[in-house]
Amino acid sequence: MDIHQAKIQYVSRPGILDLAWGHPRPGLLPVEQWLDAAGGALRSHGWQALTYGAAAGPRPLVEWLTGHLAEAADGGTRTSEIFVSNGASHGLALAAELLVKPGDVVLVDSPTYHLAFGTLRDRGAELVGVPADAEGMDVAATAELIGRLARGGRRVPMLYLVPTFANPTGRCLPRQRRVELVELAARTALTIVEDDTYRELAYEGAAPPSLWSLGERGTVVRLGTFAKTVAPGLRLGWINADAAFVRRLTGLGYITSGGGVNHTTALSMAAFGASGAYLSHVADLRRHYAAQRDALLAGLRESAPDLRVSTPDGGWFLWAELPPPLTAGELAPAAEANGVAFVPGSRFFADGTGGRSHLRLSFSMLAADDLAEAAARLGRAVAQCSPS
Ligand SMILES: Cc1ncc(COP(=O)(O)O)c(C=O)c1O
Repeated sequence: MDIHQAKIQYVSRPGILDLAWGHPRPGLLPVEQWLDAAGGALRSHGWQALTYGAAAGPRPLVEWLTGHLAEAADGGTRTSEIFVSNGASHGLALAAELLVKPGDVVLVDSPTYHLAFGTLRDRGAELVGVPADAEGMDVAATAELIGRLARGGRRVPMLYLVPTFANPTGRCLPRQRRVELVELAARTALTIVEDDTYRELAYEGAAPPSLWSLGERGTVVRLGTFAKTVAPGLRLGWINADAAFVRRLTGLGYITSGGGVNHTTALSMAAFGASGAYLSHVADLRRHYAAQRDALLAGLRESAPDLRVSTPDGGWFLWAELPPPLTAGELAPAAEANGVAFVPGSRFFADGTGGRSHLRLSFSMLAADDLAEAAARLGRAVAQCSPS
């Protein structure tokens, strides 16, 4: 794959079927539809598409997004509550910039999206994993943890989690825990940063209500992105937050200096949305990614029956548990030798101690026949590492 750069995020390795990276299947990136949208935006807006943009993002995208969130996701967002970002990673960096001071404790789900850790540590935060069980975070135990930290003189301004079709587990936090969590945020100084990256990739009916829609204003900052539903290369997403938080974002020095981020791409996205291309593309993606999920699940059932694997209702990941006493670290060299790659579960725990017997398997990037072959290779590796 040549994308004209010396250092890119992912390079395929000859002979390896890679279940490690959460990247889209290349053939599902909407090249032709985007060409139309970008051309349409330039024709409609002329020079205004190429100049500096409004601080919170261009009106056409903010308005389309507000309507879309009301209809397709879970509603109640006003235009004043949207800030167009460079994607969910940027949204997290911005939220942390406003919420976190060096030396603060930031709570993170156990497990959660591992690449969020670096962004939070960049702010000088100490990361502490919340207590959790097989259904997700334990809210009562988290409240006790916050109390203990506060009594020890620590500030705990922020909790980061991916409650819907989570990376890495694919699971959704149950509704009752969602309600308890937003109540906890309402009675403490905690702001919840809800990474809602996978909400629209729902394969079995609608996703559960977001924390944003359940919480009081000022308690939840929600991160959205077009990386998974359109294309990661756009570097385009949004932050949902109360209007005062959005005003603080628009007042940041570099926004005041340079205007809204990614203005030209944001106008193309508005055209992509308004033409109906977004909705039909996401409907296609749901069909394709659900079929890819099913292909990997079926392959694992057949070829790796000793793995205990979740069946997620959305998102891009399976969370697989190895037969004891095998660990992901022990399996990795055998997997590599058989030509398959995964991410070891411990990477998704802030202190690296949990998840030693788990693997994250991504079904997003490979076509169904490659996923079946990857499952067969993984099954061979597990068999080679298991006592007979
Ligand atoms: C949970 C989660 N958040 C954020 C990201 C990155 O999103 P973006 O490309 O919009 O920065 C990913 C991508 O893998 C993700 O899985």
